[in-house]
Formats: sequence, structure tokens, C-alpha cells
Amino acid sequence: MALLDIENLGLAMTSFEGETQILHGIDLTIERGEIWGMVGETGSGKSLTGLSVSRLIPSPPGRYTSGAIRFEGQDLLQADEPAMRRLRGRRIGMIFQDPTTNLNPAFRVGTQLVDVALHAGRADPSVLGLAPGASARALKAAAKARAVEMLDHVGITNPAERIRSYPHELSGGMKQRVLIAMAMIGKPDLLIADEPTTALDVSVQAQILRLMHALVHERDIGVLLITHNLGVVAQICTHVAVMFRGRILEKGPVRAVLKHPSHAYTKALLDAVPRAHTKRGELRGLGGIDMEAAE
Ligand SMILES: Nc1ncnc2c1ncn2[C@@H]1O[C@H](COP(=O)(O)OP(=O)(O)O)[C@@H](O)[C@H]1O
Ligand SMILES: [Mg+2]
Repeated sequence: MALLDIENLGLAMTSFEGETQILHGIDLTIERGEIWGMVGETGSGKSLTGLSVSRLIPSPPGRYTSGAIRFEGQDLLQADEPAMRRLRGRRIGMIFQDPTTNLNPAFRVGTQLVDVALHAGRADPSVLGLAPGASARALKAAAKARAVEMLDHVGITNPAERIRSYPHELSGGMKQRVLIAMAMIGKPDLLIADEPTTALDVSVQAQILRLMHALVHERDIGVLLITHNLGVVAQICTHVAVMFRGRILEKGPVRAVLKHPSHAYTKALLDAVPRAHTKRGELRGLGGIDMEAAE
């Protein structure tokens, strides 16, 4: 059974202009051990695909018009909110674009990290490196230690002190790193990350991608990594899906797709990647590409 199986997913969104079909039958299967990169221009439906898996699109304005999203066989589109709450954070980790919406301003970041770690550790003590039946005290101590360790892993200096900070005391980049730590601390089986490192500088980005990679190997998890950065895809993804106007244009093992792109749009995306030998001013954008021809 696949870890995640998105089948013919259709999503419509209502705005003041009426209802618009946004996702037109998305098919995507993610197995354990796979890191799927999802690329495509702004507005192609990448974020709404990730949010659908997390069931974080309110209805209205969202309405699923077709399909299923099976997580280990369970259709998330049929799951109720309590069931989703049990999955989020523990089985399904999420990192989304806007950090301000994700950290609770009223609690210290340490408290929020420890909560997630405890929640996961109670269900499966091995997440915190403990044996089954570990005591409440042991769980709490391990969760605290894990919180400090995770902050260190995402490149936050003085993690033991930082853990006492409130979100407003952290810079945007630091908040983003705390969120990444929070998404991974419960060692989820599926990680959905929407442009997780875009706002971070290159060295921190590399550190976080390594961490993600290590988690995939350690726990045999699956990842959906939404990014506009094909360099990141080439570096850590095993597979890639190219989105265009609410559809997956092409998908497959990363090497095959990047080496022999079958769609003009994918070729255009690849051409737009800055290469070391490209001279300043020679970068090609996507603006001049005939998008209709790519369909
Ligand atoms: N709340 C919303 N209401 C109506 N349309 C939306 C809403 N959110 C996103 N959309 C539309 O859905 C499309 C896909 O958005 P999104 O998934 O955010 O794209 P991406 O992440 O690929 O940039 C866009 O055309 C966007 O305008
Ligand atoms: Mg997006």
C-alpha cells in the first residue's frame, strides 16, 4: 500500500467572481523513501495540493470535485476533523509558507515544540528514542531534550536559551526554522513542505535539506517538497512532478525528467535555472515562452 496516493483530485475554489476549478485531476503516488519535488509557476496549484493533503482548505471557499487522497489506504477527503488532528503533526508533518500563521504567539517556542514531541512520543515512544511503556516523566524529559536538539539541527544558536523565546522575539528566518523543527520533531511518516527554505540563506538551506534527507533515511518517510528551485530538486529529490495550471504535466524519477523532459514547459523551466557558466544578463525567464504550446 502506498504511503500517499492522490487519485484524480479535483478542487474548486469560490471567490467573489464565482467558482473556479483549480485542480484538474491530480494523480500522484508517494512511497516511503521517496522525496517528491513539486515544481511549477506561481498559481499552478502547488500549495493548494499540499494544503489538500493536510485538509487545511476550509469549505467554503474550497470544494473537492473529484478524487481521493489516501494516506496508508485511508481517504483523507472522508476523514473528519478529529481524525485529521490526530494525523497532523504526528503522522503528517507540514511546513507552509507563511510562518506568522503557524506559531502561536501566546506560547514560548519551546513549549510548542515540546507539545508536538510529547504528542508523538505518547503514541510511539520510539520517536523519542524510548522503549514502549516509558514513564510520563521520561517522555517529558526526552521531549525537552529533543526540542533543544532539533533547534540546534536547524541552525539556531544557543538553542537551550532560544527555547524560552516567544515567537515575536524571533526574526522571520528563525521562526521559519522553528517551524521546520516542529514539522520534523514528531518524526512524521509523511512530510509536506511548501517552499520551506526559500526565505533562508543558502548555508541554512543546505543544512535543513540535509536534515530532511537524514529523516527520510532514518525513518523511511515520504516527502512532498514544493519548491521553485530545480537545483534543490536535483540535489535531494528522488522524483519530481511538474505542475502547470492545476495539472501535473509530467512526473517521474528526477534524473529521467530533468534529463529528458517531455514537455516544452519543463524544458523552459530547466532553461530558466541559472547555471554557473551563464553570464549575467543571459538568464532566460519564462516570460517569453508560449504557455499554450506547452500544454
Ligand atoms: N482562497 C482562494 N480563493 C480562490 N482562489 C484561490 C485561493 N487560493 C488560491 N487560489 C487560486 O488557486 C490557484 C493555485 O494557487 P496555489 O496553489 O497557491 O498556487 P502555487 O502554490 O502553485 O503558486 C491560483 O490561481 C490562485 O489564484
Ligand atoms: Mg504556493
